[in-house]
Amino acid sequence: MTAVDDARALLARPAVGVWSAPGRANLIGEHTDYNEGFVLPFAIAQRTVAAVALRDDDVIRVRSTFAPGSVEVSLAELDARIAAGGLDWAGYPLGVAWALRTAAPDAAPRGVDIALASEVPVGAGLSSSAAIEGAVASALNDVWNAGLDKIALARVGRTAENDAVGAPTGIMDQMASMLGEADAATFLDCRTLETRPVALGFDEAGLAILVVDTLVEHAHSSGGYRERRASCEQGAAAFGVPALRDLTVDDLPRAAEILDDVTFRRVRHIVTENQRVLDTVAALDADGPTAIGDLLTASHASMRDDFEISVPELDLAVETALSAGALGARMTGGGFGGAAIALIPTELVPAATEAVHAAFAASGFRAPNVFTVTPSEGARRDA
Ligand code: GLA
Repeated sequence: MTAVDDARALLARPAVGVWSAPGRANLIGEHTDYNEGFVLPFAIAQRTVAAVALRDDDVIRVRSTFAPGSVEVSLAELDARIAAGGLDWAGYPLGVAWALRTAAPDAAPRGVDIALASEVPVGAGLSSSAAIEGAVASALNDVWNAGLDKIALARVGRTAENDAVGAPTGIMDQMASMLGEADAATFLDCRTLETRPVALGFDEAGLAILVVDTLVEHAHSSGGYRERRASCEQGAAAFGVPALRDLTVDDLPRAAEILDDVTFRRVRHIVTENQRVLDTVAALDADGPTAIGDLLTASHASMRDDFEISVPELDLAVETALSAGALGARMTGGGFGGAAIALIPTELVPAATEAVHAAFAASGFRAPNVFTVTPSEGARRDA
């Protein structure tokens, strides 16, 4: 059974259409999005599918393969239910419906049944939430005749995440999920939302991206993510600039003088990470994927030492992958758990997988999920 079949089966009525959107892995550019900087994520092949049927009333009913039962909210009550919160996973699809209604005042909202089936691992740092948002936003955009383009739908997903679910994230994940292309990463300027696909050429170079999902759970609506964001805002305020995007490596000596040590290191991560994204794009364009390994590994060191968002499991995954022959490796996503990625010759994938399992066992860590991901197409209508 495919996820499309699963979603149709769960809907238990004939669908008027089926839409899907993928998770993403971020190749490089971490925590730079909400600093109006640069990111280079790619959509992965694992997708979340939304099958939709029309209703005669004004109720939105959502079901999913990842939680039992269904949640029903009428369009008349939607604002109040979103404001009240506590919707759990249903906050993502219902938050999208709520945000879409505001973003597209000319749309024609109506009652729908939505059934969701997902192949994207939850909590792995691969944006299972952006995949739900992208699938539902694409579906309701068509069914409600909202007429929004992909960037506007990415914004709708982000609004759902920030204001309905309450996670203070940037827009990288939604943009990657909406705009992904096969064999390419999405280079995104998070200030202007200008994007460009950057060819990756992993296959041709005999390379693969290995994911090590540590199964250490993270939640961006709480704790560390919010704190890092606050430190970045403090750093930008100290320089009197709207966002850390406006600083370059030449500003770092001054940053060291005027900021406390912790804020300085947070700022240094963002400023150097923005530069690493630009360098990675230039290296891919000029020399292809074999040229980017050191940039990926430098990004991990910066997150581990300056931004302090890694965990021992992620560090071990990175070190083990490098020892097993990866050209570069880094944690991906928000941090505090989730997954690491390694750029590795395809023929070394089985041995590296074994090495990671052995290293985790030797350290007494929970056995991770280790698998490869393929740069793939973004959100689409499937049927
Ligand atoms: C999470 C957020 C993104 C981004 C990353 C860190 O995935 O959803 O907006 O901030 O963390 O790069």
